[in-house]
Amino acid sequence: MGQETTKKIRLMTRTDIPAVMELDKEAFPIQWPLAAWEEELTKHGDSYLCLEVDNVLAGYAGFWWVLDEVQVTRVAIGKAFRGQGLGAFLMEGAKEQAQKLGSHFMTLEVRESNTGARKLYEKLGFKSLGIRPHYYENKENAVMMEWQFK
Ligand SMILES: CC(C)(COP(=O)(O)OP(=O)(O)OC[C@H]1O[C@@H](n2cnc3c(N)ncnc32)[C@H](O)[C@@H]1OP(=O)(O)O)[C@@H](O)C(=O)NCCC(=O)NCCS
Repeated sequence: MGQETTKKIRLMTRTDIPAVMELDKEAFPIQWPLAAWEEELTKHGDSYLCLEVDNVLAGYAGFWWVLDEVQVTRVAIGKAFRGQGLGAFLMEGAKEQAQKLGSHFMTLEVRESNTGARKLYEKLGFKSLGIRPHYYENKENAVMMEWQFK
């Protein structure tokens, strides 16, 4: 019999930054430098969640809390961990936390070409609000999406 996998969502701390930066290389064309991560965790220390699988960093998600809105800044799952429902698990955990903190809706922008992420968000109940033309540095459009708490 195989051993049970342990999944845990917890707040990101500064000691996670090196592992997060490694994971980012697999996830995004442009990485945030160390100073940006340090500043982000100083200013928005309660806004980044790490997902650990058997005590190994498998992914993370970032949020800005703006009044009753939660803006998703970044979501990433390490390559070796993708396709196992972990992105959905992490986002569901984030939605639960946002709801507990009194948020009413969650918003995000995603690259138009990022069909995997768009499918993930649609599966989680996000609705497309429209396009932000040339939103990204390479002029790619962003799709704006929103999920409303009932
Ligand atoms: C997008 C990302 C977070 C998905 O994480 P994941 O753990 O692989 O996603 P899950 O296994 O939880 O998938 C849940 C659902 O999302 C959809 N999905 C996720 N990845 C997909 C892909 N590559 N192609 C199509 N659908 C996909 C599917 O509907 C899936 O449900 P199903 O497996 O029942 O079909 C991950 O691919 C990633 O980190 N990508 C790079 C960074 C990124 O693009 N971040 C999002 C923009 S900020």
